[in-house]
Amino acid sequence: MTDRIFSVAIDGPAGAGKSTVARRAAEALGICYVDTGAIYRTVAFAVAQSGVDCADERQVEALLSRIHIRLRWTDDGVQHSFLNDEDVSSLIRSPEVSQLASRVSALASVRRFLLETQREVARTNSVIMDGRDIGTVVLPQADVKIYLSASAETRAKRRWLELREKGLAEPYEDVLREMLERDERDMNRKIAPLRRAEDAVLLDTSALTPEESIAAILNIIREKVAI
Ligand code: DC
Repeated sequence: MTDRIFSVAIDGPAGAGKSTVARRAAEALGICYVDTGAIYRTVAFAVAQSGVDCADERQVEALLSRIHIRLRWTDDGVQHSFLNDEDVSSLIRSPEVSQLASRVSALASVRRFLLETQREVARTNSVIMDGRDIGTVVLPQADVKIYLSASAETRAKRRWLELREKGLAEPYEDVLREMLERDERDMNRKIAPLRRAEDAVLLDTSALTPEESIAAILNIIREKVAI
């Protein structure tokens, strides 16, 4: 394993399998996994809790100046998101928070507010960071960039199964529609839209099992970083 600090950026649409493969690849390499979507979800949760109108950027900005968001990792590498010292990790996974996170993440003030938090983690640790703009905006100098994708139907099916496992049963059609809405918003917003960085390796996971995706990711990383 190299002693040098290195970073891997994984971007892609909802349900492409980013968090599963990024977390398990980071575990295999003994480095830190950073789920940046969780930070946007935490902001969304704060917005919902405070009753602020997410369409009113000034209200959201005022809220941001009153809250503290922090990430912490347990010894086994699991990321926890804290809002004002409360662990909100289990509260930010609902479909409502997903949609609101996509809305608030289009606001310039929200992206500005979170940028430094994300960069700071990668300055001091080797990371696999996943999100929408990691290879293009957050870590444009990342050693490895991967754009993870899969067909809309595959992604919706995975999300539907994930929700069902958590006891959040939703009709598949609703999951697919909400996911497409979110992709549309995340890809077409003015600031830091989801797109593949020019130097990102494209990996389509539609026909791959999680294990095959992880192996493919590890191969790409090992090819680019001498580890
Ligand atoms: O990855 P996720 O589903 O947890 O992300 C939730 C929302 O947060 C997503 O719809 C868009 C936003 N997001 C973002 O704009 N930039 C990131 N780097 C990560 C997430």
